Amino acid sequence: MTPTTVTALDVLRTRSSARRFLPTPLPADDIRAVLEDAQRAPSNSNTQPWVVHLVSGATRDTLAERLSAAFDGGETTPDFTGDYGGGRYLRRSHDHSAAVYGSMGIERSDHHGRQRAVRRNLDFYGAPHTALLFMPMLGDGVRAAGDVGMYAQNFLLSLTARGYRGIPQTMIGHYADTVRDVLDIPADLKLLFAISFGRADETEPTNDLVMDRVPLHESVTVHDTPGVLPAP
Ligand SMILES: Cc1cc2nc3c(=O)[nH]c(=O)nc-3n(C[C@H](O)[C@H](O)[C@H](O)COP(=O)(O)O)c2cc1C
Repeated sequence: MTPTTVTALDVLRTRSSARRFLPTPLPADDIRAVLEDAQRAPSNSNTQPWVVHLVSGATRDTLAERLSAAFDGGETTPDFTGDYGGGRYLRRSHDHSAAVYGSMGIERSDHHGRQRAVRRNLDFYGAPHTALLFMPMLGDGVRAAGDVGMYAQNFLLSLTARGYRGIPQTMIGHYADTVRDVLDIPADLKLLFAISFGRADETEPTNDLVMDRVPLHESVTVHDTPGVLPAP
């Protein structure tokens, strides 16, 4: 697939996360093109606060080993907290877990199976490349984090347009000190998440998973915009 054979709408409707990759590295020119596409992301006052470390090869393998060891030792060092609270967000997160583990053939009661699946995050799901997305703490960090999210979506859509797959991984962000140590990154750069990427193993059913979305009216309230959503 080349970028010219698919439309932007195809790309944004068909992008999905992959969780089994082939180990073959991507051509350097394609990776550079993805980085250039991502760089076009909008940001507050064009501050472009994303600081990206691209990791492949021996460094990727070392990082995966160190992350797996930190996981096994329970040594989490996240820069940011995550809490879905209760209610709808927690419920959606549980639905998501059931769908992801189900796509891997892991039963809800199979605690060890789930742990093994979670641990595969730390090997980047087998991807040959991972991009670690850091940011400086500007104020409370929320605006910069939003900008990095814009960057990440450009990155993922560019991968899709070029026939590749990726997955954002907050799991990697749970081991921020380990990543900084391996890559020699200063403590004032905070790790949001990684995007691991490459060619998906298309024989793996988990890569066919299409996650549901809630209906529009659960996310959007319209004001004086008739015809967009049914009246409540
Ligand atoms: C910022 C961010 C962090 C994520 N972290 C993880 C992760 O650590 N591990 C994982 O398997 N999936 C992770 N995901 C993938 C989500 O589960 C996925 O995007 C969501 O279920 C929707 O599915 P889709 O990407 O296939 O459309 C993350 C997604 C985002 C946007």
